[in-house]
Amino acid sequence: MIIFNQEKSTFHLKTAKTSYIMKIFDSGHLFHLYWGNSLNTNNLDYSIPRQNWYKELEKNYDTNEFQLEFYPQEFPGYGATDLRSPIIELEFADGSSTTDFKYVKHKIYSGKHKLDGLPATYTENNSEAQTLEITLSDTIKNIDAILSFTVFDNYNAITRSVKLINKSNHNIKIQRILSASLDFKESNFEILHLSGAWARECHIERMPLRKGTQSIESRRGASSHSQNPFIALVKPNVTENYGEVYAMSLVYSGNFLANIEVDMYYSCRMQIGINPFDFTWLLKPNSTFQTPEAVLVYSNDGITGMSHTYQNLYAKRLIRGNWRDKARPILINNWEATYFDFDEVKIKKIAQEASNFGIELFVLDDGWFGQRNSDDCSLGDWFVNENKLHGGLKKLVDDINSMGLKFGLWFEPEMICPVSELYKKHPDWCLHVKGRKRSTARHQLVLDLSRKDVCEYIIDSVSTILSNANIEYVKWDMNRNMNEIGSDLLAPENQREVAHRYILGLYYILEKITQKFPNILFESCASGGGRFDPGMLYYMPQTWTSDNTDAIERLKIQYGTSIVYPNIAMGCHVSAVPNHQVSRITPFSTRGIAAMCGNFGYELDLTKLNNQEKEQAKAQIKFYKMIRNLIQFGDFYRLQSPFNSNEVAWSFVAKDKSEAIVSFFRVLAQPNHPQVTIRAVGLEKNSIYQDERTGLTYGGDELMSVGINIPDDIFQGAIYDSLSNKVLFAGMTNNSIKGDYSSFIWHFIKIK
Ligand code: DGJ
Repeated sequence: MIIFNQEKSTFHLKTAKTSYIMKIFDSGHLFHLYWGNSLNTNNLDYSIPRQNWYKELEKNYDTNEFQLEFYPQEFPGYGATDLRSPIIELEFADGSSTTDFKYVKHKIYSGKHKLDGLPATYTENNSEAQTLEITLSDTIKNIDAILSFTVFDNYNAITRSVKLINKSNHNIKIQRILSASLDFKESNFEILHLSGAWARECHIERMPLRKGTQSIESRRGASSHSQNPFIALVKPNVTENYGEVYAMSLVYSGNFLANIEVDMYYSCRMQIGINPFDFTWLLKPNSTFQTPEAVLVYSNDGITGMSHTYQNLYAKRLIRGNWRDKARPILINNWEATYFDFDEVKIKKIAQEASNFGIELFVLDDGWFGQRNSDDCSLGDWFVNENKLHGGLKKLVDDINSMGLKFGLWFEPEMICPVSELYKKHPDWCLHVKGRKRSTARHQLVLDLSRKDVCEYIIDSVSTILSNANIEYVKWDMNRNMNEIGSDLLAPENQREVAHRYILGLYYILEKITQKFPNILFESCASGGGRFDPGMLYYMPQTWTSDNTDAIERLKIQYGTSIVYPNIAMGCHVSAVPNHQVSRITPFSTRGIAAMCGNFGYELDLTKLNNQEKEQAKAQIKFYKMIRNLIQFGDFYRLQSPFNSNEVAWSFVAKDKSEAIVSFFRVLAQPNHPQVTIRAVGLEKNSIYQDERTGLTYGGDELMSVGINIPDDIFQGAIYDSLSNKVLFAGMTNNSIKGDYSSFIWHFIKIK
């Protein structure tokens, strides 16, 4: 709901649990008054600092020393009287850069408009949300900024974006235009963010806020493995279930900046948007620039409260299409099973075994096209390698379909290898700077998606493959960052637009392809989680979480990813041991339980499993089918963090509280460990739940207040297969490898 109070000139953006209040100040500037628990009041004038001070100065001394710097603002410019980090920085034709935006008009409407060429949250009917558009103007330079705020009442989220309109007769150079900026009167916060690297994505970082500016950002051309486009300010006392959290997440897949400045008065400013680094945009007269959308979430229920808001909103009002509400298939991917070394015979053997086990989708990964027998050639040549797949792709797809499996295919369409037919024909189609070396990474260059012809080539070549066989899933990969960012077709003054134009080109391609093939399930990937961001989720409802498939590494990666993203969006696979990324040997049962944290699958040669593993795989698949809806559509709770403990636990609870899963992992075996209990959360306290495996019953209150006993011998090194209730390894021997990495999973069903 959005309430405009004419008398007080305030806008009250109210969701079920939160209030966000702004005011058009006497000076015409848009001030930020409040963000937090829902309020009834609209009058927060008393909270504005130094209101009368300047009036007094003016009256008594006839001076005008009004200083914006003392006020919490929504759209701070630069060069007037606020010298903190601006949301906007422009260069005008006369070389000046001072801006001062003031209120002109506003409108409020039901629902939400699309953002031109950019992914964004949406409404399904107009009653779900209201939108406020406030037009601010710098009248000296004739440029308008339309700030859009959409209030999702029941999701408890507010989205923001900015559209600039050049109404002058001159070019304006945009040096910086962020999507959201928000001032807090205090700075007693800690910063929470997700940081990592290839194979170590989304590790949770939490650190005190210092004076000065601190930021996280990507300059890599993609949202990146290194930092996720998300930042939160949390009170120092915040836990998973308690306390105040203020968060911003950016619906964008390219270079971003999340910036926090603590100023000399101990107030702080939080911002998020396109990274101004190596970015400018030439805004011609009568043209517009639209920023990506920032999603703002306040929680008074700790970090879990914030995560649930993002997860629910992103699962239902960001992810789109036919697969949004459908259960996702259990898949087998051949990458770690074969790498490039396969032919149709080997592939069909793995697929047949997968079908015997009850797996539902076979995914053929890298290596099926061009001359690609290793990673040094052929990206761009999207035609089937019939020397490898004798009989062609359609024949293989039909054969696999006849085994009762859907068929999925890997692409890396944004890339070009210097050794490829495409490069011979179009050496100018990659990002490059004339006269400079073209730096390859994984033997490949990045196609210049700022060019229309390149985008159309990708759409055509991918569509041709997808139209010629019954392909029901696509893994859309992207395996390098951008260097020498430049485009042949753009003028010198537009060269610093290329990284953003690339992302706009990518979104154009994804929109076209996903609309053309609405029944295909798309999974995005960027060497694992290098582009696990809300922008990609708008087009592709799931993401390959990490190239690291080690169950123990995945505890941290999946735990961290869940801070913002819904579990239904995470690809999680059981792979072989010793693990290919870290060489760790973990029990098959633990690999299964760790992978039952999102979209479940296997990525190993099933034909090489021993009999015990085969039985375990079958049991895992059967069990996952039983709990699939709970995992994919339930609420996820983080119970015990892998970042500060040897024991890790998480839980899924059905939205209607009718069932729950609790998963527990003990990393290293430890002697003489005391009894451990894990307390469930999110259940109905007055209901009775039955442990599906043992038949024992518990009150919801008992499970949440007393907890679940973890079998004692797990700590001394016992390895369980909790699905069959077997102790696979009794522990207490000197074989330390076998005794580590145990796990357990419980399934509770409400019986009354
Ligand atoms: C990187 C991906 O993350 C892997 O899963 C695999 O698809 C390879 N690329 C293939 O080249």
